[in-house]
Amino acid sequence: MKSSSLWLPMAGAALLLGACGDSGDDAAQQAALVEQGRQIFRHDTFGDEAKWSDTLRMHEVVRSAVDPLTALSVGLKVDAEALPPAVVDGIRNGSIDLKSPATTVALLKLDAVVGLKGQVETVGGQDTLTRLGITCALCHSTVDDSFAPGIGKRRDGWPNRDLNPGAIIALSPAIDAATRAVFSGWGAGKYDPRFNLDGLDKPVLIAPAYGLAGIHRITATGDGDDIAYWNRYVGITQMGGQGSFSEPRTGVHVTNGTQDLISAKLPALQAYQRSLAAPPPPASSFDPVAAARGKRLFEGPGGCVACHSGPAFTDANVRLHPPADSMAEPETPSYAARSATRQYRSAPLRGVWQHPPYFHDGSAATLEDVVQVYNTKRTLGLTPAQVSDLAQYLRSL
Ligand code: HEC
Ligand code: HEC
Repeated sequence: MKSSSLWLPMAGAALLLGACGDSGDDAAQQAALVEQGRQIFRHDTFGDEAKWSDTLRMHEVVRSAVDPLTALSVGLKVDAEALPPAVVDGIRNGSIDLKSPATTVALLKLDAVVGLKGQVETVGGQDTLTRLGITCALCHSTVDDSFAPGIGKRRDGWPNRDLNPGAIIALSPAIDAATRAVFSGWGAGKYDPRFNLDGLDKPVLIAPAYGLAGIHRITATGDGDDIAYWNRYVGITQMGGQGSFSEPRTGVHVTNGTQDLISAKLPALQAYQRSLAAPPPPASSFDPVAAARGKRLFEGPGGCVACHSGPAFTDANVRLHPPADSMAEPETPSYAARSATRQYRSAPLRGVWQHPPYFHDGSAATLEDVVQVYNTKRTLGLTPAQVSDLAQYLRSL
């Protein structure tokens, strides 16, 4: 166990060092860029209030009906480090009412709700939420629960699999019943980043935004050659940020507003994501002896290394794969068929222990299930003990 937890962070550090320049100035510039990217990732809406407030009127819903307990129940997270001591005490001793939407507005005023950006103004002597927007952190950050469940220090890059984006959007008074039914059907941890463009309904898991340094094909279908491609896609077409996205392969051309509030931010945003290493497995979370046996299966009879190769366990930089190479296919509608590449990328496996369920659609609940699906579909002939060993190896990555 010791040896594996030693070399993992070092591999991550080597990747990071590789991304930095060779002189001190370069390193300082890179660090400044990453810090700028962190602020954008956490706090920038790219002007998407136009969608979440002007169109969907979510600020009205939140200020009238979403108390903090309700917010936590749909997976929203609270940044404990943004709470002043008086608020911390008030939550601890119960004098702050977690069943009042006014408390949610107070938390938004403190910028303490991860991924939500509220504008709070005094109207008739009262703090009133007048605009609301979302940031990348909504879906791609969680917290360490150190204060209470859903309240703690930020963990950027960790996919928020508790978050139920569909249930949240379904609260909007501005959508029709049929659309609301689609949103309500997605469930926690999933979102369909193409539904509003092609009308097909097949939500996918919210992906980790860590462990991507050195990977040049982004998303489950490898649509982008760099992270910034997909950041622009999501920022414009899903979040509703101001600016343009254009993709001839899918015929998606979206322009919001007359300003560009995204392009200049993409280099810093990308640098920040590249700086986020996949989290190493917690101590004692896997059996090292079984994992060592599993490694031999991964590289030998399992045939896994044919696609999950290199430091990030993906051949993404070399090739993509036909839909049948995904153990989640065939599915209706096929997610690959809706994408720009119509193929799948071998999923990077560093930190895979952290984000069950698995495959782009979450069809495998555990890593044991993943291996069993490969065993059956690819007739690998692994015994139950070997399936378990291989899963232990995956837990160690
Ligand atoms: C409403 C939820 C949501 C928001 C907001 C969101 N994303 Fe995502 N993100 C997703 C989903 C779902 C996927 C998986 C898409 C796929 O694989 O096709 C994804 C995929 C990604 C990936 C690809 C990871 C990989 O393994 O290649 C990155 C990087 C990413 N998002 C970063 C961002 C950034 C940066 C922002 C802000 C500009 C953002 N996302 C906003 C839901 C969201
Ligand atoms: C022919 C190429 C190929 C081979 C061989 C292969 N994989 Fe994969 N793997 C993929 C692709 C493509 C995906 C993405 C599938 C999806 O999301 O639908 C994937 C996804 C996964 C995932 C899910 C990761 C996540 O983030 O959800 C795991 C775990 C995994 N593979 C493990 C294995 C193991 C273990 C083996 C060997 C038994 C193996 N793979 C063999 C191509 C391959």
